[in-house]
Parts: sequence; structure tokens; C-alpha cells
Amino acid sequence: MTRRELHPLIIRAARGELPAWARVRTGRLTHLASVAELLSRWAAELGLDEGDRLRWVAAGWLHDSLRDEVPESLAAAAPEYPIQVQHGPAAAERLGAEGVDDRELLDAIRFHSLGNSGFGALGRYLYLADYLEPGRPFSPVENAAMRAALPHEPDAVLRRICALRIQEVLSRGRPLRPETVAFWNELQENGAVDSRGDI
Ligand SMILES: [Fe+2]
Ligand SMILES: [Fe+2]
Repeated sequence: MTRRELHPLIIRAARGELPAWARVRTGRLTHLASVAELLSRWAAELGLDEGDRLRWVAAGWLHDSLRDEVPESLAAAAPEYPIQVQHGPAAAERLGAEGVDDRELLDAIRFHSLGNSGFGALGRYLYLADYLEPGRPFSPVENAAMRAALPHEPDAVLRRICALRIQEVLSRGRPLRPETVAFWNELQENGAVDSRGDI
């Protein structure tokens, strides 16, 4: 399947229609819609074609599609990951089993909580949108300032959000995953010219 031939599941997700196997409580649907809306706007502002814009919107809807799955099923689907982040890998596995073979989209969903040094543009912007969608209750002033820099100046915002997520993991006394450390290191290398990170 080429990128132009979008999987029917992806086309439906881009319309906000989740698969029957999705497990998302009603109160979380506004988060999914808001992430998808932000990705749609950014894709358009970046000049992506309609096929890619639909992929970005679908990723917004699908990234938390197993967020409210029962813990036993998540643990069975993604046993190598801690419980807090199993829903991403579990959703990617399920999408793959359904025949979705869009590697960039699958990795964006798999690592939307952890970050990943191999992210394509979709992975990076989903990581940003998941954190910055305007329905999030925390740090509204700083988050609005970060959104204002997007989509055209993502590097400093990525470093800031990755740092905040790492601080959150450390504050809870949890170990850092190697994917997160590799993503952080990659962001520092990319940002060597502009290392202010002060947005
Ligand atoms: Fe998530
Ligand atoms: Fe999310």
C-alpha cells in the first residue's frame, strides 16, 4: 500500500470515527478531537498535501484509542513497557494487525508518550500536539506561548516539552526509558545552534 492509498481505518479515523476496538471514555474524546484539530491546522500551515493532512488528523484521533483499555489487556499487548505508556504501543500493534503499514504513523502513535529518536515529522508534531492541545489544564500561559511558536519553530518547544516530561518521570521516582533518553539527546544535537530553549 502506498502512502497515497490510505487504509480505510485511517480514512474513517480522520473523520473522527474510531475503530470498534477502541477503548476511550467519553470525557477523553474532547482531548482526541483537540489533538486532531491542532494537527490538521499545523499540517495545513506547513503546506502538506491532503493525504498527509488526513494521516496527521487520523494519528490525533488514534493515539489514545486504547487509553482506557483494561490493564490486563494492555500488559499483554505491550509487556516490555511500564503501565503508564502501554496504550501507545498497544494501539500501534493493533493498527498493524488491522493492516495499517504506515511506519511513520505507527511509530508516532507507539512513542507518543515516550518520544523516539527516529521520529518523522508526524511523530514530532503528535508529541507536541498531545502536550499542547488547549484543553490541557496545566500551565495555560506557557502552553499558549509554545503553541504560538508552532508549527514553524518546533525545535525549542520540543526540547522544552521533552524536559518537562523527563522532570515528571523523575519527580515520580520512575526510571527513564531508553527511547526518551535517545530522543532528548537527538533534540540537543539538532538544537546545538539555538540552545536557548527559553520558550
Ligand atoms: Fe497517551
Ligand atoms: Fe493524548
